[in-house]
Amino acid sequence: MNETLKVIAERYSCRDFKDTMPPDEVLQAIAEAAVQAPSAMNRQAWRVIVVKDRDLINDIESEAISYIEGMEDKSSYERIKERGGMIFYGAPVLVVVAIDPSHQDYALIDCGIVCQNIAIAAASLGIANVICGYAGRSFDKPASAEEFGKRLGFPEGYIFGCSVLLGYANSTKQPHEPDKNKVSFIE
Ligand SMILES: Cc1cc2nc3c(=O)[nH]c(=O)nc-3n(C[C@H](O)[C@H](O)[C@H](O)COP(=O)(O)O)c2cc1C
Repeated sequence: MNETLKVIAERYSCRDFKDTMPPDEVLQAIAEAAVQAPSAMNRQAWRVIVVKDRDLINDIESEAISYIEGMEDKSSYERIKERGGMIFYGAPVLVVVAIDPSHQDYALIDCGIVCQNIAIAAASLGIANVICGYAGRSFDKPASAEEFGKRLGFPEGYIFGCSVLLGYANSTKQPHEPDKNKVSFIE
């Protein structure tokens, strides 16, 4: 197995971070890998916002949890409670990927590829990570979307796409077991 395949096979979603900030040059390398992602028609209709501001991270986390708590379907809130009442797991860095929703067909696919580049680049540099969709619940109320969009510096018309948490693992876990039956070859 070459190094790239090894990183992909060993990468896992971290849900327990240390309160230690990765160096700026490491975050810079991860952010550059993010924007090296391919995109439909090379539109690159994204912004990659690396947030180290603890207050802003806490505010986004609190808003998301309070929104999820108010949802009729309690399954997400129960899951969060089982995970210690957190959705950011003490991570010191939140990378928000904002997208231009007018590129409807491909905006979310492009965003997913950016997030995967972030996750794999981070893992290759020894930085634990988890892709975090729950952060999006902080943008579900129009007033919160406006507030956080401003604080994060979204360009006009951009919306939250997805996010990735980064830091050093306090405890590790195994990645999911890949189901090889989901692959087929037709010859
Ligand atoms: C689009 C997307 C959104 C996700 N959102 C969350 C999330 O909000 N919180 C979380 O703890 N994990 C989240 N995950 C991580 C998945 O739960 C995780 O990748 C999956 O359980 C497989 O585990 P592994 O990454 O450790 O192999 C998300 C993953 C993806 C791809």
